[in-house]
Amino acid sequence: MNRQNILILVIFIALIITIGCGKKERATAGEEKQEEAGHKWTIGMSQCNLGEPWRVQMNQDIKNEAAKHPEIRAVFKDAQNDSLKQRAQIEEFISAGVDLIVVSPKEAAPLIQPVVAAYEKGIPVIVLDRRVIGDKYTCFIGADNKIIGKTAGQWIVEKLGGKGKVVELKGLMTSTPGQDRHTGFREGIEGSELEIIFEADMKWLEPSARKEMESALARYPQIDLVYAHNDPGAHGAYLAAKAVNRENEMMFVGIDALPHEGKIYVQQSIMAASFEYPTGGKEAIQTALDILSRKSVPKEITLSSRVFTKENIEQGGELIK
Ligand code: FRU
Repeated sequence: MNRQNILILVIFIALIITIGCGKKERATAGEEKQEEAGHKWTIGMSQCNLGEPWRVQMNQDIKNEAAKHPEIRAVFKDAQNDSLKQRAQIEEFISAGVDLIVVSPKEAAPLIQPVVAAYEKGIPVIVLDRRVIGDKYTCFIGADNKIIGKTAGQWIVEKLGGKGKVVELKGLMTSTPGQDRHTGFREGIEGSELEIIFEADMKWLEPSARKEMESALARYPQIDLVYAHNDPGAHGAYLAAKAVNRENEMMFVGIDALPHEGKIYVQQSIMAASFEYPTGGKEAIQTALDILSRKSVPKEITLSSRVFTKENIEQGGELIK
C-alpha cells in the first residue's frame, strides 16, 4: 500500500468512527438512558422526583428488571417535584415516539392532559404508584393505600388500647396516596376514642414534617402517637420530638418500609411500625413487556403490602389483608 492509499484508509476509518459516535444517542439534560445494544422498544419513564429515597429505589427496581430484557431500553426523566416540568417531559416522550410511557405522577390533576394525549395517540401508558384522574391510561400499578391507611388505623387503635392523642402528618394532599392514606386511616380508627389533636400536610417531605411537628409539640403537652403518611415524615417528627427530649413520650408510625429506611428505624425502635409501600418498578417493566408483546393486561394491578414491627421484623413482617 503506498502512502496515499494509507492516508485514504485512515480518513475512511476516522469517518466511520465519527459517524458511529454521532449515531449513538446521548442523554439530554435531566435525562438518563439505559444503554442496550440492539433493543427493540424504548420505554420512557417519568419520575416525579428523585429527592426521596423511595423514588431512587423505584428507578433502581425498574433498571434492574429492564437489564434482564435486552429487547427494551429505559429512558428516565426526573421532574424534580414540578408538575409543569413533568407534563413537559411526558410531551417530550410523545414527540420522541417512545414505544411506551411509565409515569409516577407528582399530582393527580395536572398530569391528566399529557397522559390522555399519549394514550389517544396509541402510546401505552402505565401509571405507577400515584394516580391520575380518569381512566385514559393502559394500566395502573400500586398497592392499596386505603387498605394500608385503614390497617394502620386499626393497628394504632389496638396499640393505644382504644384511646389517645394522635398527630397525623399527611402526604401531599393533591396526590392520591395522601388522600387514601388519610381516608383509610379515619375509617380504621372509627368508633375508637382516639383523638386527632393536630393534622398537617407535610407534602411527603422530612423537613416539612419536622417543622409541622415542632408546632404540634409547642401546642400539646401530651402526644401519644404520630401517624405519618410516609417514613421520612415519621422520622422528621421523631427528630423534632428528640430535639426537645420528648421522643420517648410517644410512638411513631409511618409508611414505605424501605430496607435502608423504615425497616432500620423499626429495628432501632425509632418507629413502632412501618407499613410497606412497594415501588412496583419490577412489575411495571414486566407489564410493559406484556403490553409491547400484545398480551392483554388488567387495567389495575394491586400490589400486596406488609407491616413491620419490632416483634415481627425478624420473621419478615406480616401480610396486610
Ligand atoms: C416518595 C413518596 C413515598 C410515598 C409515595 C407515595 O415520593 O412520598 O414516601 O410512599 O411517594 O406516592
